Amino acid sequence: PTTEPQSGSGHELVVVANRLPVDARTLPDGATEWVTSPGGLVTAMESVMRTVDSGAWVGWAGSPGEAPEPFEADGMHLYPVALEQEDVEKYYEGFSNATLWPLYHDVIVDPVFHRTWWDSYVSTNRRFAQAAAPVTSRRGVVWVHDYQLQLVPEMIRAARPDVRIGFFNHIPFPPVELFSQLPKRNQILRGLLGSDVVGFQRESDSLNFLASVRKLLGYHVEGHVITVPGIGSAPAREVVAKTFPISIDSAAVSALTEDQDVIERTAQLRRDLGNPKKIVLGVDRLDYTKGIRHRLKAWQELLNDGSVDPHETVMIQVATPSRERVEAYRQLRDEVELTVGRINGDFAPIGRPAVSYQHRSFDRRDMTALFMAADVVLVTALRDGMNLVAKEYVASRPDLRGVLVLSEFAGAADELRAAVLVNPHDIDELKAATLRALAMPEEDQEEAMRSLRRQVMDNDVQAWAHSFLDELEQSGKPQDDAPAV
Ligand code: ADP
Ligand code: F6P
Repeated sequence: PTTEPQSGSGHELVVVANRLPVDARTLPDGATEWVTSPGGLVTAMESVMRTVDSGAWVGWAGSPGEAPEPFEADGMHLYPVALEQEDVEKYYEGFSNATLWPLYHDVIVDPVFHRTWWDSYVSTNRRFAQAAAPVTSRRGVVWVHDYQLQLVPEMIRAARPDVRIGFFNHIPFPPVELFSQLPKRNQILRGLLGSDVVGFQRESDSLNFLASVRKLLGYHVEGHVITVPGIGSAPAREVVAKTFPISIDSAAVSALTEDQDVIERTAQLRRDLGNPKKIVLGVDRLDYTKGIRHRLKAWQELLNDGSVDPHETVMIQVATPSRERVEAYRQLRDEVELTVGRINGDFAPIGRPAVSYQHRSFDRRDMTALFMAADVVLVTALRDGMNLVAKEYVASRPDLRGVLVLSEFAGAADELRAAVLVNPHDIDELKAATLRALAMPEEDQEEAMRSLRRQVMDNDVQAWAHSFLDELEQSGKPQDDAPAV
């Protein structure tokens, strides 16, 4: 059966991602509530798609079972893909988040592999490809996102040789020595090479990918261009693998800081915490890659040795619930909550926390108020594709106040050179950086923040999307002999 759309139908730009921009939640009365999905991918792509006329987004609605019918939201056409409970366990929690995620993040925890997880990864990727192929217009563009869907480009190419296919990896791509451990590694590379352009966050990720293609598949690589040999009589194709550091809707975040309601929420937040002299903030999904344990250890030691006075300084740790049925995430939550309890038991004055721990989601306004209230933001990821929180903090400080402490293992460290850069594995360095940030004179804060803002305000997510799509436009050569619709 043909997967091509009827003449004149289909969307010119189709985004394919594991999650839709909104998650369906069933309320106690059986009604469905739609809430923004977690993670940086959605933050970034949602604002890109808002500027695209009649774009489509293919993804999972966040709960197992039947998929809702396609629907429209904010001018976007959403095509839900169904994941059965077994797919959620094997494709999403298993191969995506217990095999690929730890392996691609430098094996901070041990990757687990089961062959049945791989089978589910293949069949689920096929389901996403089958949902995207028929809704893409003739010679349209399909933009596939992230590690959960690395086989989708090749599957779409097989069904729709007329379309251009881009893939963007939001997380790191590991060095070839680590990637080589992955069972089915060559199938993953071939899946990705179904694309015309494969994009990465950092130059080191692009280089790691190119090295893996050269070493494991033996394909010719020149600069950023890979020659993929054709099968049988099919001609060879060229695939570009390049670096496109993702960003945020910087102007929209910055504009929120002028909103009277957000300004009032910022003041209220400080009052609620007892008007401390300084507020230190961490905002992360509750994920072992984010270095939350290292951060809390450093904070605990600073309180313990008296370098920080809990009557004057409060830490807020926002930890969004994430992947709660995956073992490493359960353990992390237990450890973080135990440590927060100990810190508060040992150091919190009556009526005020030493660490205010928030295990839930906040709306954009509250998030901006948190950034505006924070004197120091700690981004201490042990490994992170980009880390949009770092950029959101900078965009939230047009007043040029506040200090960003940033791990050199976050992609953002390649661009945000004026931050206080740290190796979060070194607890002494982390403590010293936190103290330096807390004591930084206002002139120095202003100088650093001005430089950071130049970077973030000039390089926003719209510019990122344009540069990726421009590259795709130039490099993709849809097959001219592809069947006409
Ligand atoms: P990741 O994609 O790994 O989650 P990023 O830092 O790139 O990490 O993106 C996280 C995004 O999620 C940011 O836009 C951040 O503001 C948002 N976010 C994080 N925690 C929360 C929360 N508790 N409530 C609402 N949004 C959150
Ligand atoms: O790139 C980061 C990312 O893994 C996205 O792919 C994902 O949507 C987000 O973080 C949140 O994770 P999850 O979808 O597993 O809740």
